[in-house]
Amino acid sequence: MPSTTSIRLIEPADAAAIAAHRVRDAEAFRPWEPAQPDDFFTPRGQEERIEGLLAGYRAGTVWPGVVLAGDEVIGQVTIGGILPQPHLRRGSVGYWIASVAQNRGHAGNAVGLALRVMREELNLHRAEASTNLENLPSQRVLRRNGFTPYGVAHAAILLDGSWRDGLLWERILGD
Ligand SMILES: CC(C)(COP(=O)(O)OP(=O)(O)OC[C@H]1O[C@@H](n2cnc3c(N)ncnc32)[C@H](O)[C@@H]1OP(=O)(O)O)[C@@H](O)C(=O)NCCC(=O)NCCS
Repeated sequence: MPSTTSIRLIEPADAAAIAAHRVRDAEAFRPWEPAQPDDFFTPRGQEERIEGLLAGYRAGTVWPGVVLAGDEVIGQVTIGGILPQPHLRRGSVGYWIASVAQNRGHAGNAVGLALRVMREELNLHRAEASTNLENLPSQRVLRRNGFTPYGVAHAAILLDGSWRDGLLWERILGD
């Protein structure tokens, strides 16, 4: 039976699972995720990074989540760049799923759950995301969640040693 997807706030105790996934997937993720320093791939380095994300959560600028399949951590979903001001009320969604758990709908489900957090917990009005032009699986995840592309940001992100364009996506959440 396929395991159910859920999301929750990240915890320092998630560091070891995340480091293990990112070590295993370092090569597979190279075209899609920015290069990281060596300590990104260690539990200690991840723990420090998680503390930083939780400081951002306390400041109201980020909602840092993990994605679970059953009770196993399989990835991250992060609502970043949160602008809660009444005339903006927007945030940007980013995510990754470990290669061992891909193509089972987990990212699509996790983004749907993150949109619910944005609406119901963070009271946001607009969701944004950015994908590589060639990242068709990530684009499917967004389309399935009602996002539409609205533009291209040129030379916007350094991936695998070259500046790549970003396809920009939006989804209006409500009033
Ligand atoms: C992108 C990513 C998050 C998708 O996670 P996932 O859990 O496998 O996603 P889902 O199973 O929910 O959906 C994948 C979709 O891509 C489709 N897909 C898979 N491989 C594909 C390919 N080569 N070409 C086109 N579509 C493809 C699947 O059929 C599915 O679409 P569907 O819902 O219409 O059937 C995951 O591959 C990942 O973490 N990749 C590396 C890091 C990354 O790209 N992060 C996002 C940066 S924007």
